[in-house]
Amino acid sequence: MDKIVVLDFGSQYSHLICRRIRESNVYCELVPYNVPLDKITELNPKGIIFSGGPASVYSKNSPKPDNKIFEAGIPILGICYGHQIIIDHFNGKIKRVDKREYGNALLEISDKTNLFSNIQSNTLKCWMSHSDAAEVIPEGFKILAKTTSSFSAAIGNNEKKVYGLQFHPEVAHTENGNTVLNNFAKVISKANPEWNMTNFVESIVKEIQEKTKNEKVLCAVSGGIDSTACAVLINKAIKNNLTCIFVDNGLLRENEKETVQEMFTQKLRIPLTVIDARERFLKKLDKISDPEIKRKRIGEEFARVFTEFAEKEGPFHWLAQGTLYPDVIESGVSGGPATVIKTHHNVGGLPEWLNLKVLEPLRFLYKDEVRNVSRILGIPEEVLTRHPFPGPGLAVRIIGEVTPEKIDIVRKASKIVEDVLIEDKLYSKVWQAFAIVGDDRAVGILGDERLEGRIVTIRIMESVDAMTADWVRLPHETMEKMSSRITNEIDNVAWVTYAISSKPPSTIEPQ
Ligand code: XMP
Repeated sequence: MDKIVVLDFGSQYSHLICRRIRESNVYCELVPYNVPLDKITELNPKGIIFSGGPASVYSKNSPKPDNKIFEAGIPILGICYGHQIIIDHFNGKIKRVDKREYGNALLEISDKTNLFSNIQSNTLKCWMSHSDAAEVIPEGFKILAKTTSSFSAAIGNNEKKVYGLQFHPEVAHTENGNTVLNNFAKVISKANPEWNMTNFVESIVKEIQEKTKNEKVLCAVSGGIDSTACAVLINKAIKNNLTCIFVDNGLLRENEKETVQEMFTQKLRIPLTVIDARERFLKKLDKISDPEIKRKRIGEEFARVFTEFAEKEGPFHWLAQGTLYPDVIESGVSGGPATVIKTHHNVGGLPEWLNLKVLEPLRFLYKDEVRNVSRILGIPEEVLTRHPFPGPGLAVRIIGEVTPEKIDIVRKASKIVEDVLIEDKLYSKVWQAFAIVGDDRAVGILGDERLEGRIVTIRIMESVDAMTADWVRLPHETMEKMSSRITNEIDNVAWVTYAISSKPPSTIEPQ
């Protein structure tokens, strides 16, 4: 399949470039900036994009690509820092600007061939974010567009098929940015648009069959979109050689077990083994208040339940996981966040001693692509639109010790929060919505009696990727409905509060 390769110089937008190219149905992969030319030749890309990045080309150890790439005859597009690498490589000049250019700028296009073909307007709003800029552009390059602060906001050498953009075409703030990337992929690099989810399903099913031969695969599902899509794809490929299990750890949302069971057996027609491990998990969490210990214990217990099942019902040869592309690809420069804020537990982290080979059918996909695949596979729409739910479940929504009483409160209150949002047509507009309970108490009146009951906190967040999030300014009527239903319908709750902290500095889950 024709593809474009993005060299990652550490920009926060590297994955976005990749996604945008894929949106134009051309397959695109992200690789570290320093992959040698022979590795790139193996990938056989139709075009190469240099991402942006935080470095300066003139500083000592700044990241640079393999020099031979420029002579390989493969079209190149540099974006921001990538643009400056091109200028530097071909002996132009880069300098530090007095004032960092950041935000919207108006691009005036002077050449509407190649990179800017299929664009009607002569001006475009574009997004700039740089502290270095070109002083002299290299010989053989032509200016294609400028802004008031950048005389060479876009440059190109049609003979060499090398182009550079000082602005970011991949971000939504740039008008027609998709067309510019599309032009690089299809017009300049002549990549055929062969990437779509129907083809993907066909080819991955074949690949699963070839890989697993006649061996047995074990897949733990959570009812979430990733593990469900993973199970459905494998089931399509190998039918009865796949065993799916669902562990009820007693920390699930209301009716979750029943819903997942029904979806698998009735709608998807995939056999599902449900393991009732509620007591075991509760015992492991007894008297534990520390959030990290809670997460650790839940992860370990999950591994134990899983291992026991594998040993009893096996032998299995493969472990299926719903890992997605962003988890597979490490950034070229930074290896991800340096400090662990929370240890995230997913059905993924399973014991090595089981000696299972790993099968990851979604490892090439972004989340939105998984959604499209899921639609093709007939996974119910409710699964695609359901809010994310953390692996350790309700335990991270309970502050202090996890007790049956607190689990019951937080489960019922979360269900009310969700129900009211659905009723008020707000559910799909928010990222996550749930209830939290801790050990604080407040005084209330129940009938004529004084009650010192628990405080339930409602947390409703909007976000794009959970990296940052803002609390939702919920209509007061909606809040009121939630509050009165929670105090009326749940025993022992006296007060309801609303969490008004964004991320950062807070996190989405309280634990
Ligand atoms: P935080 O609380 O870190 O949450 O701001 C960010 C997003 O991740 C979810 N989350 C988890 N997901 N295992 C998961 O699979 C976990 O241990 C976990 N902890 C938090 C959280 O619900 C939010 O969407």
